[in-house]
Amino acid sequence: MKKILIINGANLNLLGKREPKIYGVNTFESYLEVLKSKFKEVEISYYQSNVEGELINKLHEFGFDIDGIVLNAGAYTHTSVAIGDAIKSIKTPVVEVHISNVYAREEFRHISYITPNARGLITGFGLKSYELAIQSFL
Ligand code: DQA
Repeated sequence: MKKILIINGANLNLLGKREPKIYGVNTFESYLEVLKSKFKEVEISYYQSNVEGELINKLHEFGFDIDGIVLNAGAYTHTSVAIGDAIKSIKTPVVEVHISNVYAREEFRHISYITPNARGLITGFGLKSYELAIQSFL
């Protein structure tokens, strides 16, 4: 059974409440159930933190053992050299995801410290971005 970890970063605990026109009305917890039933053959775990260092700790903890990491670092995407370095330091491939199309938004969102170190990038498909990322590992 493939093991995949989804990591959500800053402010993504507020999905469903936060800027619903951009991020939708569903909570991530309810979408996670959808993902788990779509990918019964995959062991999907989930972690969310608003704290940059905790995201790095999680990448270190899982990044040598499992098959794939799906990472939406939220705004840390555009600022965190340290998360970029963490992805470089681990063995497990990381697919970067975003709910919104970051390239259709403000210019500061066009910078990513994750993309150069990620296996690939999926951006702009709503919560479906996570499904596409999991599919990329199968
Ligand atoms: C986001 C896009 C980021 O620019 C933003 O800071 C987020 C969410 C997305 O999923 O669309 O918090 O990563």
